[in-house]
Amino acid sequence: MPQTHLLSPDAEGIEAAVAILRAGGRVALPTETVYGLGGDAREDAAVAGIFAAKDRPAFNPLIVHIADLAAAHDYAEISAPAAKLAQAFWPGPMTLVLPLKPGSGIAPLVTAGLPTLAVRVPAHPLAQRLLRAFGGPVAAPSANPSGRVSATEARHVMAGLSGRIEAVIDGGPCGVGLESTILGFDADGTARLLRPGGITAEAAEAVLGAPVLQPAPEAGITAPGQLLSHYAPSGSVRLNATAAREGEVLLGFGPVKGDLSLSETGDLAEAAARLFGLFHELDRRGAQRIAVAPVPEEGLGRAINDRLRRAAAPRE
Ligand code: TXA
Ligand code: MG
Repeated sequence: MPQTHLLSPDAEGIEAAVAILRAGGRVALPTETVYGLGGDAREDAAVAGIFAAKDRPAFNPLIVHIADLAAAHDYAEISAPAAKLAQAFWPGPMTLVLPLKPGSGIAPLVTAGLPTLAVRVPAHPLAQRLLRAFGGPVAAPSANPSGRVSATEARHVMAGLSGRIEAVIDGGPCGVGLESTILGFDADGTARLLRPGGITAEAAEAVLGAPVLQPAPEAGITAPGQLLSHYAPSGSVRLNATAAREGEVLLGFGPVKGDLSLSETGDLAEAAARLFGLFHELDRRGAQRIAVAPVPEEGLGRAINDRLRRAAAPRE
């Protein structure tokens, strides 16, 4: 059992983090979306260590994080529409699922045997500094035990993974608060949304000048953020609540006041940034029953509702 070090967001912290990654260890790092649990994507043992720390099922592939689009060419085949999206949204909260390049050197466990690789260039300055200092691809799922709420602060990572990973580098709270939008491409080149996130499908459509298809429900698990029960706090979750029932804590939004609020002004970006932090707070308070106010199904609201539905889904 490693003792988990809390590293500072400075040159010393970066140096320590790079040393851990080079040695095949795991470092949780801030991104603009949520904290990631990073390891060297070329090292089987490092990647296996990520799966072990999270108790993540091995059929669920990881996103590889790199510093810029140029680096992506080393690992994946980048079609013209993919390049358009990358140029428009990288660095930023968009993950592209692309054909894995033969000889990429990416550990097979990263892709769970799929012929595709999920790639992302995070915008967080600390993630950028770390990726550049390390100089290689970093596999990083969200830094939470599998199935639980993603971490948007270093202390959330500590609460879930302390004693299971080597270090967390503390970059403060994450700005977006929800995981990246994941887009893949069908055989005919059409873009398809695999997970809604910080960038809306409409924004991607505007860049592509072409429609983005919705997730294929019959396709099974292509992005197990698609697993039905996911992002779940300890307590049960009831959706579209306008008032608390006996024993419930109400998470408000806009006009529905609640005990705590996702956003009193009904601001979707604020609600996205606060959602996981409030779930962690309710876990800390030992809330058994959580009710959540309705959030409009538009723009970022779709990604928020996607996470809420999974948090509310029946659990194994
Ligand atoms: O914002 C984010 O994307 C965060 C930060 C840390 O970058 N990462 C994140 O990772 O959310 P994770 O592992 O929690 O979610 C990654 C999702 C999973 O649902 C996984 O199934 C999907 O990406 N994925 C990874 N590789 C894939 C592939 N080749 N094809 C389809 N889906 C893939
Ligand atoms: Mg996750």
